[in-house]
Amino acid sequence: MSIVLVHIDGEPVEPWIAEFTRQAPEIEARPLDRIEDPAAVDVVVAWKLPQGLYGTFPNLRLIQSMAAGVDHVLADTSRPAQVPIARVVDPWMARAMSHHVILQILRWHRQLDLFEADRAENRWRCGVTFHPETVRVGVLGLGHLGQAVARALQGLGFAAAGWSRSPKALEGLETFHGTEGLAALAERSTALVCLLPLTTETEGILNAGLFAHLPEGSFLVNVARGGHLVEDDLFAALDSGRLSAAALDVMAAEPLPSDHPAWRDPRIFLTPHIASEINLATATTVFVDNIRRLRRGEALTGLVDPARGY
Ligand code: NAP
Ligand code: GLV
Repeated sequence: MSIVLVHIDGEPVEPWIAEFTRQAPEIEARPLDRIEDPAAVDVVVAWKLPQGLYGTFPNLRLIQSMAAGVDHVLADTSRPAQVPIARVVDPWMARAMSHHVILQILRWHRQLDLFEADRAENRWRCGVTFHPETVRVGVLGLGHLGQAVARALQGLGFAAAGWSRSPKALEGLETFHGTEGLAALAERSTALVCLLPLTTETEGILNAGLFAHLPEGSFLVNVARGGHLVEDDLFAALDSGRLSAAALDVMAAEPLPSDHPAWRDPRIFLTPHIASEINLATATTVFVDNIRRLRRGEALTGLVDPARGY
């Protein structure tokens, strides 16, 4: 018997099981509490499976991350090294991420918080003008999401550029790569968007050293992982004026503890890891396609390289 274990941390899994049944009645999808025989599980589709569980399925043939990122899978040392790991590559998610980043860039550029504050004093502020041509957005990560975001920003007339590990030639988009390219990207950017995977190389990359290369008053958007950001360096950069504001969708501790200073800091626009939520219908289509491929012995999609970390 081949069972697909479906697990999503902190949320009900039933809608996902129902969607599997709707899209692929031939696939037996079950939640964790309905797995009687771990040997029958050949696929795990999960967001943050409890630590240590991957190692308990002796016939596991595919780990399908229920997310674009796979840091939550790689963090489990019980994971059998030979089992392939796939991530979600879904155009729906790229569009949602573009909407979120555009919202944050526009909110900062158009100074929405200023006008919101003016309401308390019935102040009708005159003479404010905006110059989108001065907004230069640097996107860290030029993968599925980073490229979509950079293109969407270009479509609004913002000067976007991107940074990746390997060199890239993308028509009409300025690109940088490698360690030396990072400082160069920061120096030309008035807003920095992080869309990197969390790996040993990228952990803590949003730090004082990088902020020092940004022009005064820049804006930071972190929509990747909380582990990319050195929080003390963020607050120091906000206090010094190097950064004028930051939009944080991801935090090192999630849910964010109630005593965290970000809750009360008006320079920080906080959202609860919703920049690009996984979509029930379109993501299930990705999972079903990969499971069918696996069972037909065909090449899988969205495979990651565990050694590289993404
Ligand atoms: P992806 O397609 O794998 O792209 C990753 C990009 O990062 C690639 O361009 C890669 O460079 C670059 N990169 C990796 N390591 C690097 C390094 N050391 N130096 C420079 N560049 C490096 O990933 P994706 O689908 O765009 O997703 C990116 C991340 O977004 C995910 O891992 C996840 O953490 C986050 N995410 C967040 C949300 C949310 O709701 N907040 C939703 C979805 C995803 P190369 O092109 O040279 O390989
Ligand atoms: C969400 O954070 C994802 O990685 O898809």
